[in-house]
Amino acid sequence: MVFNIFTAGDRTNMHATSMESMQRCIDWYLSDKLIKVVDLGAMNVNGSYRELFPENVEFIGVDLEPGPGVDIVLEDVYKLPFEDNSVDLILSGQMLEHCGQFWRVFSEVARVLKPEGMSFMIAPSTGPVHRYPVDCYRFYPDSYQALAEWSGLRLIHSWTDERGPWCDIVGVFQKGGEVQKITVPRTKNIEAGQTNYRNADEKAEKKSGVRDYLDVIKDIHALLKPRTYIEIGVQKGRSLNIASCDSIAIDPYPHKDLEITNSKARLFKCSSDDFFFFHAEDELKKPCQLAFIDGMHLSEYVYRDFINVERAMSPNGVIIIDDVFPNHPIQGERKRQSQVWMGDVWRFAEFLSENRPDLKLTWLDTFPSGLLVISRLRPKHRVLWQLYNQAIKKFSARASRPVPNYILTRENSVAPTLENIQEAISR
Ligand SMILES: C[S@@+](CC[C@H](N)C(=O)[O-])C[C@H]1O[C@@H](n2cnc3c(N)ncnc32)[C@H](O)[C@@H]1O
Repeated sequence: MVFNIFTAGDRTNMHATSMESMQRCIDWYLSDKLIKVVDLGAMNVNGSYRELFPENVEFIGVDLEPGPGVDIVLEDVYKLPFEDNSVDLILSGQMLEHCGQFWRVFSEVARVLKPEGMSFMIAPSTGPVHRYPVDCYRFYPDSYQALAEWSGLRLIHSWTDERGPWCDIVGVFQKGGEVQKITVPRTKNIEAGQTNYRNADEKAEKKSGVRDYLDVIKDIHALLKPRTYIEIGVQKGRSLNIASCDSIAIDPYPHKDLEITNSKARLFKCSSDDFFFFHAEDELKKPCQLAFIDGMHLSEYVYRDFINVERAMSPNGVIIIDDVFPNHPIQGERKRQSQVWMGDVWRFAEFLSENRPDLKLTWLDTFPSGLLVISRLRPKHRVLWQLYNQAIKKFSARASRPVPNYILTRENSVAPTLENIQEAISR
């Protein structure tokens, strides 16, 4: 039987978590110098790792079949058509599980990599059978170390992505030379920074709501009396300084005028994704009672923030999500075109209400952009972890869908009176 490795396989449906993991490897381990990259199984049907690299990289897609993104069609699946010590980086995702003798691929990778060359490998640890045309294996946290020993490569970093259905194992390998140190750049794609985005149409800068969100957050602190508070997106510290308890504040680009008056607050100058990857285990040993999610206003970021935060909460705790009500369709677009900008946080809020009926959601009509208050938390709940890829696919398939009218008119919201707030935060 011919094992159909290095083929389009599930690239027909590249999952978001795989792209995100590959981006992490690139951000953390690649220098800016011109490099030669080989992608094993490069057919681009719906997304390719090629998109993650700058133009000055020589990117060679190899595959068993010709097609978009394929530069070299392999004659022998276990023989890479490259000279010894000639490639800087070899990538592979969603391929090893379809490869009958995957260890032979590792030997080839070790042969063709330059002496200090690296390889980023992504393969599933779980997930349904998916034959392209065969599905032979799943990989576990120790698999890559065994393969490193077999091939002579060194495994320098490996982790499991807990999001389903694949729960990928990600491996960073290096052939020889001094071990490449991890460098964690502050997140790119910061839209919520300090640039001026004012729209010429004044209507696109509209704000509404019957009570200021900071006053509502003050009430929630007073009623809930949290022992620990997490805030994602600190900016000038207006919401952070309401807290007087132990607080964890996360922002890769806090405002230059940030002044923290809460002596129990600690600021982590990194993206929330990096905070949860590197610091959460040490910093979030005890459950938190209150969290405010107000970082990057894009649905996939808020999704990740929510699942990471819920896991760190006490079941009696409360999570608040800011910016759930754009006041104008332009404010609800993913691309920022107005100073008042909520992005598509609404898209995640809508998804949450459809997929987590067990949560108690209260939509508050606050100024300027609405708050979603969430109680009855379930820190061990896995559904949103499982649904991440499906959700992102759905969000992007419907990316051009404008903000629904029921959101623009705040149809399901209640006035943020003390009574309604009390009800919202109770279980
Ligand atoms: C709207 S401001 C926060 C305002 C603040 N919570 C308040 O109410 O005064 C959004 C902040 O999110 C930060 N931010 C953007 N991307 C982020 C990310 N990935 N993780 C954490 N914070 C992020 C921005 O740097 C910005 O300071």
